[in-house]
Amino acid sequence: MRAIINTKYGPPEVVQLMEVDKPIPKDNEVLIKVYATTVNRTDCGFRSAEYFISRFFSGLFRPKNKTLGNEFAGEIETVGKDVASFKAGDKVFGYNDTKFGAHAEYMTIAEDDAITTMPGNLTYEEAAPITEGAHYALCNLRAAKIRSGQKILINGATGAIGSAAVQLVKYFGAEVTAVCDTKNVALVKSLGADVVIDYTKQDFTKIRHTFDVVFDAVGKSSFGQCKPIIHKSGIYMSTELGKNAENIFLALLTPLLGGKKVLFPLPTISKQDVLFLKELVETNQYKPVVDRRYPLAQIVEAYKFVETGQKTGNVVITLT
Ligand SMILES: NC(=O)c1ccc[n+]([C@@H]2O[C@H](COP(=O)([O-])OP(=O)(O)OC[C@H]3O[C@@H](n4cnc5c(N)ncnc54)[C@H](OP(=O)(O)O)[C@@H]3O)[C@@H](O)[C@H]2O)c1
Repeated sequence: MRAIINTKYGPPEVVQLMEVDKPIPKDNEVLIKVYATTVNRTDCGFRSAEYFISRFFSGLFRPKNKTLGNEFAGEIETVGKDVASFKAGDKVFGYNDTKFGAHAEYMTIAEDDAITTMPGNLTYEEAAPITEGAHYALCNLRAAKIRSGQKILINGATGAIGSAAVQLVKYFGAEVTAVCDTKNVALVKSLGADVVIDYTKQDFTKIRHTFDVVFDAVGKSSFGQCKPIIHKSGIYMSTELGKNAENIFLALLTPLLGGKKVLFPLPTISKQDVLFLKELVETNQYKPVVDRRYPLAQIVEAYKFVETGQKTGNVVITLT
C-alpha cells in the first residue's frame, strides 16, 4: 500500500511517500481502507518534535510511529476475530493519537478506541476533520464547566480548535465573543458567534467588559494580558504552554489562590466523545470547517501550509 513514512524528526520534507506492507489487524482491531485524513497541528508537533517533551511519547531519538495521521474516515475492510461492534463495509471515522497511521491507504485501530460509524449526512472528506480540533476544544470547555448564560471569549476562532470551540460553546448555551481577522468575520458569525472582534481593528485585551472564560485557541496571549477582561472568579485557558511554559505553572498555582485562575487540562478522547461529536454533526449543531484539500502525494505541501499558522479550520488529505 502507499503510506507516508517518517523515519526521523524534522521539517515537512522528512516525510516520504513509500510502498509498504498493508497492516494486519489484531484480534481486537479493524482494518480500515482510508479515504480521507487530515494534516493538523498534532501531526506537525509529532513530526517536528519541536517540544522535546513530546519525544517521551513519540520516541526519544526517532519516531516510534513511522506513519502519522490521527484523524481518519474510511471503510472497514476486515475485522479481527474478537471484534463484535463493526463489520466489513461499515463507513467509520475517528481519532488515534497513540498509534497514528492514517496517512496511508490502510490503518488498524482497536474497536474500543475513538472510532464509530460515520454520520449519515457527511462525505469521507467532511467526516475526517470532525475530531482533532473539537476534542481539544471539548476538553477545555468541559474543564471550565461552560454553562448557559456565561460569556466566553474565544481568540483564534478560525483555527481547527477555535472554529470547533465557537460551535461547542453555542451548544452549551453560553454567549460567544469570537476574535478573528477581517476576512473571516462572516464565517465566524455563521458558526454562531454572538459578537465578533476583528483583531486587525481592535485589541481584544483592551475591551471594557469582562468574560467568565477567555479561551485563547491559538495561544497568542498570556494570562497577564487577559486578566483585565476576565471576571473576578473567571478562567483563562490557552492551547499553548506560554512563555517559559508559564501556563502549566499558573494552572498549578492560581486555583490555590482564589479569584481569576488558569486551567490547562490534558487532552483526552474516548469513544464516548466521538459518539457525542457524531450526534452534534447529525443534528447540525457542529460542522468542521475545511480550508484546503491535498492528495496524499502532496502531503509535504499540506504540512508547509498548516505550519504557516493561517489555515482556516482544517486541511484534508484525500486518498482515492
Ligand atoms: N503541539 C501540539 O501537538 C498541538 C496540537 C494541536 C494544537 N496545538 C496548538 O493549538 C493552536 C491552535 O491550533 P489550530 O490547529 O486550531 O489552529 P492553527 O493552525 O494554529 O490556526 C490558527 C488560526 O488562527 C488565526 N490566527 C493567527 N494568528 C492569530 C492572532 N494573533 N489572533 C487571532 N487569530 C489568529 C489564523 O488565521 P489568520 O492568520 O487569518 O488570523 C488561523 O485561522 C496552535 O497554536 C497549535 O500549535 C498544538
